[in-house]
Amino acid sequence: MEEFSGIEQLEEALLGAAYLPDRGLATALFLALRVRKPLLLEGEAGVGKTEAAKAIAAALNSRLIRLQCYEGLDVAHAVYEWNYSRQLLHIRATQDAGAVAEDELFGPKFLIRRPLLEAISSSEPVVLLIDEIDRADDEFEAFLLEMLSDFQITIPEVGTIRAERRPVVVLTSNRTRELHDALKRRCLFHWIGHPSCEREVEIVRLRVPGVPERLAAEAVRFVQGLRQLDLAKPPGVAETVDWAEALAALGRRELDAEVVSSTLGSVLKYHEDLELVQDETLVGLLEEARSAG
Ligand SMILES: Nc1ncnc2c1ncn2[C@@H]1O[C@H](COP(=O)(O)OP(=O)(O)O)[C@@H](O)[C@H]1O
Ligand SMILES: [Mg+2]
Repeated sequence: MEEFSGIEQLEEALLGAAYLPDRGLATALFLALRVRKPLLLEGEAGVGKTEAAKAIAAALNSRLIRLQCYEGLDVAHAVYEWNYSRQLLHIRATQDAGAVAEDELFGPKFLIRRPLLEAISSSEPVVLLIDEIDRADDEFEAFLLEMLSDFQITIPEVGTIRAERRPVVVLTSNRTRELHDALKRRCLFHWIGHPSCEREVEIVRLRVPGVPERLAAEAVRFVQGLRQLDLAKPPGVAETVDWAEALAALGRRELDAEVVSSTLGSVLKYHEDLELVQDETLVGLLEEARSAG
């Protein structure tokens, strides 16, 4: 695995993966690699948490293994499962030959590796992304705690599997609930906020090649203005990028009231938010977006 001699080198590699972190995030990622601790990234939706894990995998030239969390996620979907139908078939096929050895039935051939086991037992360098951990329930979080401190998994029929090399682990949370202190203690922590105006323009230009400079700047300032309002769901960077892409596809070089109101649906996904940003509010935001800079 390629390691980075310093934070600048890491930033450069991330940029190569079309990811532009601020200094704080780059530092957190650098330290997570150095001390081989899991990194917990928290922040609102669309600020680049998932993408950070993908980018670090690309920067390290490592495989990304992703576990998407959800309510009810259990060991069978996160860690491993026995392939019952295959076991049954095997029993049927060998019935004539006498009893089937139990050892064989609970051997590697019949084991389905889910993301966590896959990451622990991989002989190649991997980045393990445990995405949206706040959606999983308490029991799963408790299970994870064990795995993240020892980097090992016990399968009763097989024994304990220990990671030959520790995977790089990134956890993300949208903070729909607080995570347990015990989990946080095992991780380095970094909060990703909305980017500054300058950096968001850079991100848009990176993600939407050929976007007119003025359009990018105006769209970003408009979105930054939206984030000051009391919205049900403030737009993330993802929305800014989508919007700029749509505007550029329409051949726009700058914003006007008409194009904003006809495309605002790529930025605001809630009906009540769209209702709020009408008429004077829209015109006010537009004036600010066009006058600054
Ligand atoms: N720092 C960044 N550099 C480049 N692109 C970014 C950055 N932050 C966010 N993005 C863009 O925003 C999109 C959404 O980010 P994502 O990681 O899915 O958000 P989250 O997981 O925090 O909800 C990405 O696909 C990417 O286009
Ligand atoms: Mg995400």
